[in-house]
Amino acid sequence: MNITVTGGAGFLGSRLIAALLKAKPEARIISLDRGACPVTHDNVTSMTGSIDDAADVARAIPAGTDIVYHLAAVLSGQSEQEFDTGLHINVDATRLILERCRALAQPPRVIFTSSLAVFGGEMPQIVPQGWATRPASSYGVGKAIGELLVSEYTRKGFIDGLTCRLPTICVRAGQPNSAASSFVSGIIREPVAGVASDCPVPLDTRLWISSPDAAVANLALAADLDLEGLGADRVLDMPGITVTPAAMLDSLHRLVGAAARDLVTQSSDPRIIDIVCSWPGAFDDSRARALGFASDTDFDGVVQQYLKEVQPA
Ligand SMILES: NC(=O)c1ccc[n+]([C@@H]2O[C@H](COP(=O)([O-])OP(=O)(O)OC[C@H]3O[C@@H](n4cnc5c(N)ncnc54)[C@H](O)[C@@H]3O)[C@@H](O)[C@H]2O)c1
Repeated sequence: MNITVTGGAGFLGSRLIAALLKAKPEARIISLDRGACPVTHDNVTSMTGSIDDAADVARAIPAGTDIVYHLAAVLSGQSEQEFDTGLHINVDATRLILERCRALAQPPRVIFTSSLAVFGGEMPQIVPQGWATRPASSYGVGKAIGELLVSEYTRKGFIDGLTCRLPTICVRAGQPNSAASSFVSGIIREPVAGVASDCPVPLDTRLWISSPDAAVANLALAADLDLEGLGADRVLDMPGITVTPAAMLDSLHRLVGAAARDLVTQSSDPRIIDIVCSWPGAFDDSRARALGFASDTDFDGVVQQYLKEVQPA
């Protein structure tokens, strides 16, 4: 099996590659990213290049490619600040990748990572399946267009596509990133490391989140599913759990201690509030669950997963 992962040097992409190597030891995997894939393995080829470069894309998706995971993207904060870059990479380069897939003799499965940022405006407490997308950010617009392209290329028989709308992934190891939701990980990750952190949205903001392990397991599963039953609607709201910063900080207090909790302040950043508070706090994710996709059970488990990663026994 030949698999290509765009964004394979990124947070989710590199974890996905590691998970795929375990699940499919025979697979040959190509990573296309601006950076080098951190997973070193005989079956992994790390290509550095850009998804907006047709030659790079053609090299990264050679004849015989069975599955393309398209994860490379400009994230929400940067997309909002750099309008042209965001749309160019998230829309134009996505189209380039789909065109490359279309040129293959056998339509590959294409798994596209979208986001709850495709939603905005007035929403019910629990967003039902099929709810209209009305993004309130450039990032959300780019992802919504990408979803439509994946569905349309699938309808035409050019690819066998699936859009996975991921919850906000937390706790993200490493450094803060350019996502508007970066604080969702920051308010746990930083205090665990003894560093102060700020929550720029109200403490009762409802957030739809997933741990990295749950999200990556779901992406890996998407390679093998029979998607015929989904019909023309190839967009899935992936399972998640609803948390608030207040509940997250309670978990931090419980599992790490009062000193860690006290390192987190709360302020109001209108730039972040405008983006993150436009996102839904809960979904009807039953369609994805019926296919076998799953979520974490509670936020304590999410924190414990992160502690295990940074403080191995
Ligand atoms: N992490 C989350 O909370 C979350 C939530 C919803 C959706 N997503 C989506 O999941 C995907 C992966 O997210 P992530 O958290 O791993 O982000 P990330 O920033 O860690 O990884 C994205 C990768 O894309 C690469 N990239 C960007 N532009 C590129 C280009 N022009 N050519 C080649 N590579 C390029 C970056 O170098 C980076 O390694 C993205 O599509 C993102 O929109 C993530």
